Amino acid sequence: MKNIDLSAEHDITARAIKSFAQTPNERLRFLLQKLVTHLHSFASEVQLSEAEWFQAIQFLTATGQICDDVVRQEFILLSDVLGLSMLVDAIEHRTSGEATQSTVFGPFYIAGMPDREYGENMALEPGSPSLITGYVRDESGKPLAGAMLDVWQTAENGQYSGQDTAQPHGNLRGRYHTDEQGRYAIRSIVPVSYPIPTDGPVGSLLDACLRHPWRPAHLHFMIDAPGHRRLVTHLFNDDDPYIESDAVFGVKDSLLVTYEPRPAGHSLAEQFGIDEDFRAVSFDFVLERSA
Ligand code: BEZ
Ligand code: FE
Repeated sequence: MKNIDLSAEHDITARAIKSFAQTPNERLRFLLQKLVTHLHSFASEVQLSEAEWFQAIQFLTATGQICDDVVRQEFILLSDVLGLSMLVDAIEHRTSGEATQSTVFGPFYIAGMPDREYGENMALEPGSPSLITGYVRDESGKPLAGAMLDVWQTAENGQYSGQDTAQPHGNLRGRYHTDEQGRYAIRSIVPVSYPIPTDGPVGSLLDACLRHPWRPAHLHFMIDAPGHRRLVTHLFNDDDPYIESDAVFGVKDSLLVTYEPRPAGHSLAEQFGIDEDFRAVSFDFVLERSA
């Protein structure tokens, strides 16, 4: 089939762009006119058939229908597997050299999880014990007292509490706070790799493209401190087999950490009341000043 730009012939693109010309909000006008331009150019370039467009509409409909108000957000998942979430992240966070890098938010955050004490265990069920400690600092290296670290991770079955209703409320979630010296301490379990949900349209898409759904093991953080930009990031286990092939492209080298083995008799075990062998990570977060 000859690849003819029918939009030009019928003036469709120009007319659709013009239809948004009176949009009072300048940014909205710009976004919509560019969206029309690029969508039309995509359809022309691939010579989109009616059947393909209908299939796409069915796919987007199913994507919306599987979403719920708690933890299932298939549109975020779609944006993630297309690499769009990480592109927007890169545009939004052109961090200076010093600040900790951000990564995808993901669809499994739940607000309002329990406030936890310094060093409190957020694992409410047994697992391989871990301890994550460090400072939250500003870009000059000054420790920040009163920062809040909202933390979440999956259980060893690869599921988040909320997603897996068998887990106790607040399991492997919690809001930690830095102490007077800007230090934080989190007791938990060692994260495991897990597949993103594959029982919806995004799973079918990955399947059709022979892509695997796995994310390397990680711990999620959303960190806030007065006068500083919010940081949304993960710490990734550096020995994970999926570290080079994250299904959502979220890995950055600066976010890799080693879970170092420590014996039950280690001084940290005593300090945090750990009575078995565990794994320890030390990591300092650096926040940018807010504009
Ligand atoms: C997550 O890490 O929770 C996640 C991120 C993107 C897609 C699915 C899950
Ligand atoms: Fe995750």
